[in-house]
Amino acid sequence: MASKYDHIIDQLQEYREKNIYRELLPSQIKGNIFYLGKKKVLNLCSNDYLGLSQNNSVLSTIRNSLRQVSPCSSRLVSGNNINIIRLEKILATHRSSENALVYPTGYMANLGVITAISSSEHIIFSDSLNHSSIIDACRLAKSNKIKIFRHNDLDHLEKLLKSTKAKKIIVTEGIFSMDGDMVRLDLLAEMAKKHDSILILDDAHSDFVFGKFGNYGGIPEYFGVENDVDIHISSLSKAIGCFGGYVASSNLITDLLINKSRQFIYTSAIPEHLCLAVITAISFLKKNKNIQKEFFIKIKWFINQLNQLGFDLGATSSQIIPIIIGDEKIALDFSRDLFKNGIFIQAIRYPTVSLGKARLRISLNASIKQSHLCYVIKCLDKLGKKYYLI
Ligand SMILES: Cc1ncc(COP(=O)(O)O)c(C=O)c1O
Repeated sequence: MASKYDHIIDQLQEYREKNIYRELLPSQIKGNIFYLGKKKVLNLCSNDYLGLSQNNSVLSTIRNSLRQVSPCSSRLVSGNNINIIRLEKILATHRSSENALVYPTGYMANLGVITAISSSEHIIFSDSLNHSSIIDACRLAKSNKIKIFRHNDLDHLEKLLKSTKAKKIIVTEGIFSMDGDMVRLDLLAEMAKKHDSILILDDAHSDFVFGKFGNYGGIPEYFGVENDVDIHISSLSKAIGCFGGYVASSNLITDLLINKSRQFIYTSAIPEHLCLAVITAISFLKKNKNIQKEFFIKIKWFINQLNQLGFDLGATSSQIIPIIIGDEKIALDFSRDLFKNGIFIQAIRYPTVSLGKARLRISLNASIKQSHLCYVIKCLDKLGKKYYLI
């Protein structure tokens, strides 16, 4: 007999048949150890790239500052805590911008910015591998048209830019979340200028990782084009190890966001203790410049090892290292086998990446021990051969 839930049951069945069904696993952190269910595993999936989420100074800041769990209010009502304002000043300086505005998450920052700044007169030009939060933002935006340019293909972008006289917004990422490759921001910034476009950069995965030695200013700083990006968007729950998102830009844009951005206006403010945690994490990083240097030595070594084994790593040049597999079922089986060996690396499948482009997404962490990485390489070698990938 037909039921009102038939379409949902069918949808879930289709996910299972296509090997793209997802499940939530209960996890628990005990110090540096990660438990999934009852199994102790080495976690190579987290975006806590610098290991700051368990940093002692950050944790003690939270313990000492915890006076209220949540402001339980929007920033514009009664949630505009002085420590959010303090954090915003630090973030603005960090991104060499006039101003910064904290959002509850990076996801909301993308939605909030792109919907607020675009109008029906704009065309948004978006890289084909942009994160889902950018895709959703473009869909929500009032702009009449969204043009997708081929991933990191600036010739294609320029062709699209030239094809219209409309007002233009270009949006891209610093380090791409599922491929780990880098945008050529120097060239892109030049192109944006030439075509009088607003340039938005989501630097979620590169902020506090890339940048001038020990300054951690992200991809704009890496290319020396900090002032050519109109709007910087980032997450505070990746390399900085805390929670939240932010937008760094001019006073003009910040003013618009405060007045128009629904994802800023109609939601509760980030709690004070999280702002203080971010402030402590940033100050810790700026005093510990070598973390970045040592991390990049580790990343280079690891990528080298995998290249020598013969894995397809796409075009990665960062701490995000995909092992491109293609078939969803093989990716899942490979990930399950790694799990049995005490290594947690998720199989990334559609719709996060295109169908037939499944992969294992390894995210390296500055605090992982070298001996553990050697063990991971050994297991990847064994299983790569089992699945005829190498
Ligand atoms: C490129 C990119 N932007 C934004 C986000 C969202 O950040 P948040 O986790 O703070 O919502 C993510 C999350 O994975 C991301 O990969």
